Amino acid sequence: MRIHELARPEVFTLSPYIPGKPADEVKRQLGLERVIKLASNENPLGPSPRAVKCIQDLASSVHIYPDASAFRLKTALRERYDIDADQIILGNGSDEIIMLLGQTFIRPGDEAIMPHPSFPVYRTSVLLMGGRPVEVPLKDGFLDIEAMVSRVTEKTKMFFVCNPNNPTGAMVDRSRIQYLMDNIPDHVLVVADEAYAEYVEDPDYGDMLRYLKEGRNVAVLHTFSKIYGLAGLRVGYGLVPADVAAAFNRVRLSFNTNAIGQAAACAALEDLDHVEKSRKLNAQGMRYLSARFTEMGLKVYPSWGNFILVDTGRDCQKVFEGLIRKGVIVRPTTPWGLDTCLRITVGTPEENEVLVEALEATLEELA
Ligand SMILES: Cc1ncc(COP(=O)(O)O)c(C=O)c1O
Repeated sequence: MRIHELARPEVFTLSPYIPGKPADEVKRQLGLERVIKLASNENPLGPSPRAVKCIQDLASSVHIYPDASAFRLKTALRERYDIDADQIILGNGSDEIIMLLGQTFIRPGDEAIMPHPSFPVYRTSVLLMGGRPVEVPLKDGFLDIEAMVSRVTEKTKMFFVCNPNNPTGAMVDRSRIQYLMDNIPDHVLVVADEAYAEYVEDPDYGDMLRYLKEGRNVAVLHTFSKIYGLAGLRVGYGLVPADVAAAFNRVRLSFNTNAIGQAAACAALEDLDHVEKSRKLNAQGMRYLSARFTEMGLKVYPSWGNFILVDTGRDCQKVFEGLIRKGVIVRPTTPWGLDTCLRITVGTPEENEVLVEALEATLEELA
């Protein structure tokens, strides 16, 4: 018997996650001096200087285990959101929180409703536990909340709302969230993944915190990987009912967030100027890229995040490879079944210009 045959059958239903190509890998492979990575929705400004200082200060203390209860970070989040500390959960990125929620809630045969295409970890977290992902197609890039709600059954355990949605960037507005909360039964945990919420400036954004505070079964997930610029430190958090947190904390490993990550997250949370600067830069870059892509005759999906989905009208793998040769890494959306689109992170003004030039040249080569 080959040893892999002993693995749980659910493992073979999973597709490996394909992350954005690291810039160093492309530099090495192509011998390029400068490579721009606009593939993983990171903050092009980098982390807050306050977070950097805090990371440097802590370097000599890494022989000490982290605080398993993350007291300082939970205190800061409690004050930010005005909720109880026992309603806050933490993870090694919000990725891990999604996986742990699956492990906590999904039994074989349970269903979880999710948009498609969307963040692939929802599917993985459910499949791995023997559950059934019920994937509901988007409508022109937007979540079809009515169609998703219509798929709820007795077996539904979780309902994922990705807001704004990765990879399309679409937001779910207040009225759709209200419709969802008016119609979702109590036996379902609504997981609102708001990884990009800090970028949204639209007053119509349907955030979920209000429903959590009203005592509904809602988990609101955020991350320090996006606007806070700490993707490499892996810290995500969730705001959840206290009994969900109690169950979750039995499943997680004690030290699932590291000491430097916890401290840097506190510093990043306090640096409101850096967050504001990042938001402004993103809004400006988003306007620039949307305008330039539209001028190039490409279909642009309206985005409320820090990335933009653009339909190149051609095989996106070829466009992706053409851009790589020019030192620009973006994300082809073939794994999502969007064979002609690219998901492009908004960079600095200079990076955006380099990208636009490289894209124009690539499309010309492929014409
Ligand atoms: C919608 C969404 N949720 C969650 C995550 C996970 O972020 P992290 O695990 O870095 O916190 C991402 C990352 O790209 C994302 O796009």
